[in-house]
Amino acid sequence: MLRTGGLVAFPTETVYGLGANALDARAAARIFEAKQRPSFDPLITHLADVADLEPLVGSVSPAVAALAARFWPGPLTLIVDRPERIPPIVTSGLDSMAVRVPDHEHARRLIAAAGVPVAAPSANRFGQLSPTRAEHVVRGLGAAVDVVLDGGPTRCGIESTIVDARGDLPVVLRLGALPVEELEKIAGPVTVRPGSSGQPVAPGTLAAHYAPRTPLRLLSGAESAGAGGAGCGYLAFRDRPAGGWAAVEVLSASGDLTEAAARLFDMLHRLDAVGVTEIVAEPVPDTGVGRAVNDRLRRAAATWRPAP
Ligand code: TXA
Ligand code: MG
Repeated sequence: MLRTGGLVAFPTETVYGLGANALDARAAARIFEAKQRPSFDPLITHLADVADLEPLVGSVSPAVAALAARFWPGPLTLIVDRPERIPPIVTSGLDSMAVRVPDHEHARRLIAAAGVPVAAPSANRFGQLSPTRAEHVVRGLGAAVDVVLDGGPTRCGIESTIVDARGDLPVVLRLGALPVEELEKIAGPVTVRPGSSGQPVAPGTLAAHYAPRTPLRLLSGAESAGAGGAGCGYLAFRDRPAGGWAAVEVLSASGDLTEAAARLFDMLHRLDAVGVTEIVAEPVPDTGVGRAVNDRLRRAAATWRPAP
């Protein structure tokens, strides 16, 4: 299917991807169509193995090589120069390209069997909740996908961390499943691009993304849930709130951030499906992968909706 220009959704350790042959401009165009994704938002190219990087892109900076060697296969996306063979539509016309080797057997075997690099964004409609289960993909994209490989729920549950390590100082472009603390053990101090920290100067400047259909309100750290509003849903980190919430989901009863990240989108999908009028969410501790969880919650809350 991939070789003939089709779209194949597949599991990775982070979220499900919507894959197409990255060497085929028409196949890549179908991804943008299926996701209703603006053409200025570039795709990530997926490889089956670390050893496939250099044959595709040539030599890379020592920092990129070191990060790939340490964290691939894994939830890290690296920015490299776009090779000639990758059509510009994949990178939205950029001279750079995002690339990663997913840590998932199905994904790697699929890519290896196809024999081509696979361009794959998350397999959801643009701006909506990311899919962590095959049924999320089917519900969100339906007939726009040719095949969905069902690998069960994804392990990390949150997208890869994106790092540009081409220059002197590595820059995190998107917080994700690989914690900044882990990156720094290999790369030394990294900067987190403002906006990817989810703490922009003005709340309204946040790109609305990762959003449920139901409006989401994010509590500040100190704020307590209070009594549940009738018809409201609540997303808790570890403790169930008191009061009359219409629906409650707990990210991790043991307070484990990795488990919270793995369950985040699934719990938001659930709360979104039960017909509440608002989802109230608690932030999680802002450390490790918790930073990426809070980033996703802030973006979901920042969604601008026109008055009805
Ligand atoms: O975990 C993941 O990364 C998942 C799985 C499927 O691998 N993929 C994913 O793709 O999250 P997507 O399309 O939802 O997000 C890719 C983001 C783009 O929105 C863009 O911000 C960034 O990657 N990106 C892609 N190419 C880039 C480039 N050349 N320079 C800077 N950022 C880039
Ligand atoms: Mg996405």
